[in-house]
Amino acid sequence: MAHYLVTGGAGFIGSNFVRTLVNDTDHTATVLDKLTYAGRRESLDGLPTDRVDLVVGDICDADLVDRLVARSDVVVHFAAESHNDNSLNDPSPFIDTNLVGTFTLLEAVRKHDARFHHISTDEVYGDLELDDPERFHETTPYNPSSPYSSTKAGSDLLVRAWVRSFGVRATISNCSNNYGPRQHVEKFIPRQITNLIDGVHPKLYGAGLNVRDWIHVDDHNSAVLQIIDSGRIGETYLIGADGEMNNKSVVEMILRLMGHPTDAYEHVNDRPGHDLRYAIDSTKLRTELGWKPRYTAFEDGLAATIDWYRTNEAWWRPMKEATEAKYAKTGQ
Ligand code: NAD
Ligand code: DAU
Repeated sequence: MAHYLVTGGAGFIGSNFVRTLVNDTDHTATVLDKLTYAGRRESLDGLPTDRVDLVVGDICDADLVDRLVARSDVVVHFAAESHNDNSLNDPSPFIDTNLVGTFTLLEAVRKHDARFHHISTDEVYGDLELDDPERFHETTPYNPSSPYSSTKAGSDLLVRAWVRSFGVRATISNCSNNYGPRQHVEKFIPRQITNLIDGVHPKLYGAGLNVRDWIHVDDHNSAVLQIIDSGRIGETYLIGADGEMNNKSVVEMILRLMGHPTDAYEHVNDRPGHDLRYAIDSTKLRTELGWKPRYTAFEDGLAATIDWYRTNEAWWRPMKEATEAKYAKTGQ
């Protein structure tokens, strides 16, 4: 049995990770989360308090981080500013949390020799053409496009340097687009589901032909656990479930599943610098560690996600108005 420090554990992927940890292992966890606009205490509701505790604080707070890392065996680092559109409006918190925060954690795990797993994104590799037969793999050169993805790329490079220079026991995973319960309504899929619940048309950026490679959040997290258990120190693993689909097709599927005509969406302003296509080749993870995804039918996972938002309005309602007010300013 080990004690985990889970940064960003009140966010979308982190809170689902803590649930997986409690359900599938005997480990205990401390969540360190600043509870920014994206973090919700309610996302940890129902978890056993003798297995999970929440410390509200900032990963840039070196004293706090040092104290928490000192009593942890494993640190799983989810905390980040995570939304591309926000990074275009104000990059500053992305520099603080994604770069300075990661540096602060690395210094603490170096001092206390804790095992560190860094959660990153496929966006560090830039984007692919729609007809490119290539997919991203572990040796694809870094080429990030947005303030968000460039700070994630920088944080990955910090981790690699701390492994090589100081012998920190770290692994990195770069995952594609996640969907599932407890995702903030600023993100593509929950935004469209909750818009439809509110009687508002889904909003497609530009022509809607951009492709994302969707994976259920529980599959992301099962891969993370497997990498922590049996991944090789210093290695990077790409996580993906072969879920490429363009945004227009996703919106049409949501409309159909929610009982609306499939053309009942509107086109809105495109995202500046909008990455065209992401696609993950997860061969290394599958062959080396034997991982495979459980949610292979995207439509079933999407239907379950729609049900979750329908039955958990109390969770998302408090965030909806402010989110849409932000989008209204950019015509999105
Ligand atoms: P999220 O925005 O839902 O959650 C981020 C959490 O971090 C929130 O709870 C927030 O309060 C917390 N946080 C932010 N700044 C903090 C700080 N300074 N100190 C402590 N806590 C802080 O994000 P998410 O979608 O769950 O993403 C989690 C991680 O996974 C991120 O590192 C992101 O880059 C990565 N990732 C996300 C996706 C995706 O599709 N969402 C895909 C691949 C990788
Ligand atoms: O690829 C992994 C990344 O996936 C993570 O690193 C990020 O943290 C996560 O936010 C996500 O980034 P994206 O920018 O791909 O996700 P987002 O949900 O913002 O948008 C998905 C696609 O949908 C993208 O092409 C933009 C488009 N979009 C988004 C919104 C919010 C729309 O067409 N309409 C919308 O209303």
